[in-house]
Amino acid sequence: MDIDNNQNPEGLYQALSVYCAGDDYPCHMPGHKRNPDSGEMARYYGIDITEIDGFDNLHHAQGLLKEAQERANRLYGAGETYYLVNGSTCGVLAAVMSVTQPGDEILMARNCHKAVYHAVIMQGLKPWYYYPARIREYDIYDGVSAERIGSLLDAHPSCKAVVITSPTYEGIISDIEAVARVVHTHGKVLIVDEAHGAHLGLVTKEPQGAVAAGADLVIHSLHKTLPAMTQTALLHVNGSLVDRSRLRRYLSMLQSSSPSYVLMASVDSCVRFLEEHGARRFTFYQEQYQKFCDKTVRCRHIRIGKMTELSENDYDLIAWDIGKIVISVKDTVMNGARLYAVLREQYHLQMEMAADTFVLAMMSVMDTEEGWQRLADAICEIDDRIEKETCAKTAPVRERQAAACQEVYPDSLMMPAQAFHKDQEEMLLQSAVGRTAAGFISLYPPGIPLIVPGEIVDEAVIGQVLESRKMNLNVQGVSEAGMICVVRE
Ligand SMILES: Cc1ncc(COP(=O)(O)O)c(C=O)c1O
Repeated sequence: MDIDNNQNPEGLYQALSVYCAGDDYPCHMPGHKRNPDSGEMARYYGIDITEIDGFDNLHHAQGLLKEAQERANRLYGAGETYYLVNGSTCGVLAAVMSVTQPGDEILMARNCHKAVYHAVIMQGLKPWYYYPARIREYDIYDGVSAERIGSLLDAHPSCKAVVITSPTYEGIISDIEAVARVVHTHGKVLIVDEAHGAHLGLVTKEPQGAVAAGADLVIHSLHKTLPAMTQTALLHVNGSLVDRSRLRRYLSMLQSSSPSYVLMASVDSCVRFLEEHGARRFTFYQEQYQKFCDKTVRCRHIRIGKMTELSENDYDLIAWDIGKIVISVKDTVMNGARLYAVLREQYHLQMEMAADTFVLAMMSVMDTEEGWQRLADAICEIDDRIEKETCAKTAPVRERQAAACQEVYPDSLMMPAQAFHKDQEEMLLQSAVGRTAAGFISLYPPGIPLIVPGEIVDEAVIGQVLESRKMNLNVQGVSEAGMICVVRE
């Protein structure tokens, strides 16, 4: 991490703080006027300004914000880097739309986040899907195989771009270098949704991030894994395949015309924090992870997801992010929802999500030793209890369907945009077999659609939705009364 303090040595946050502490009176937006008497949120308004003199304009950055973006760019080593104040969602939309024309074809992994599907609808694209394999030991998606991507591009040579997610929500990292090689051999653009991997490759070279691995467009949610406010993200572009002025045009359409200076200061502050403290924090992070593994290795029932725990070596992942702790209770008397509840109610540990056979703890460079220890201790104690329960009840191993991870995908009747724009009607999920979905049904988190507009509702997807609802997972796209949107016939 090379620190270059020549430009804007104090950073955006300091500039805002100094300005706002001065005597300039705000005859401009925002309406709270930084007045301490503006309600219970007033203390958060102190550095919230708009595009005033000296503070540049994100949509035409020439000064402070240009320098701040260049600073982020140096940290990641991309061709160009853009600030995003509307999360990775906005970066994904801009990336996909900037490299396609309405009606184009793209190749995308079926486990992409819904933002990619939204871009498909907005641009009226024809998606061809890469269906990821499953890591059976943990009921999660595997990484992406470069070889299979190559075969799919051979079969669908009109595709303009390839979109994949790495790391996945559960931390599975694909061999981006190999995928980029294949995609570029076919003359296509590689977009990597690395929303969960903004920390990759910053200090430790392995696993490397998608920018270094040669992807053309890479999207990072800073807020997911680094010290930055919710909604902050970055979009990086590499190489010459992407028309950067077109990309900028989409960004200026998709980002707010009043990007929050608080959020932008948070991005700058995050970048500066990493420059200054990154090496120390990453070392600490890895030490804590190792201690956590050393403690939990004694568990006899609960298993922590690790590459070394995989019984087969024919999976496509090349690494498993240490920040995604998959705590598996597969083949025990417990399920993910119960483990989630126990961790929350008895140990006051709030997990990121629960799936059928595991819970996901997200740990970052900012976690404390206490946090890591509490998690390890709780897992070990619960594991002891499972042992007792198992002995007492000799409970049979339950055969379960993994709700968060699809194996069978619905057939598609029409393009997502076609279905989305058709007349729609609501009907009871159970009565919708054979009907064409007009909306998405997703589990949130992780926000991967179980069904996409244009796909045919079948028994398998209905079973999956009902099972997920029974487990109290957050199913989006089905009303309280169990209704879904289908294309009117
Ligand atoms: C893989 C992936 N991509 C994109 C997004 C959207 O990110 P954001 O919430 O920063 O808009 C998410 C959010 O969960 C995600 O998991």
